[in-house]
Amino acid sequence: MSKKVAVLVGSLRKGSFSRQIANNLVEMFPSDYEPEFVEIGDLPLYNEDLDTPGNTPAAWTKFRDQMKEVSGVLFVTPEYNRSVPGGLKNAIDVGSRPYGESIWDKKPAAVVSVSPGAISGFGSNHHLRQSLVFLNMPTLQQPEAYLGNVTNMLDENGKVSEKSVGFLQSIVDAYVELLNRY
Ligand code: FNR
Repeated sequence: MSKKVAVLVGSLRKGSFSRQIANNLVEMFPSDYEPEFVEIGDLPLYNEDLDTPGNTPAAWTKFRDQMKEVSGVLFVTPEYNRSVPGGLKNAIDVGSRPYGESIWDKKPAAVVSVSPGAISGFGSNHHLRQSLVFLNMPTLQQPEAYLGNVTNMLDENGKVSEKSVGFLQSIVDAYVELLNRY
């Protein structure tokens, strides 16, 4: 049976470079893995008052149910103000509750940060990692996936250039190795 891996993209915009990179990454998984995009853009902001029987927003329940089915999570995210975009942090918070029912627990993760700038989303990558420690997600350490100057990596069809394919494949390969250990 193939293993499902959720792909969460931190950007909500249509032409997102992060999503373009994610589209390339999903093509690089071996056939016994099934990467699938899980959308986070319609999740209402987390509010504990709503997380009570009968009040839970349907979008939260759908997201939690989808995430329960996956063996791991690949995060591909831009950096907003040296941190994680609010929409992604919100998804993390939604998935972490109700207390004791976190959908993140023990799921191997990989973090790929993407930026048109030279600092490569380092701040975003590491702020996200801080949450993943608390959420008990074994996270890929090497290779570190900071994709800077991303506009130089992608062609007009959103395909990564020949010279970047090898690095992206090495990220997926190392992540699959981590997934196979669990
Ligand atoms: C940005 N951007 C940005 N880039 C960066 O390298 N470090 C940063 O801290 C920020 N901060 C930031 C805040 C906000 C609110 C926006 C909208 C943008 C620029 C960002 O990297 C650029 O818009 C990317 O194209 C966003 O990623 P997607 O949407 O292309 O995936």
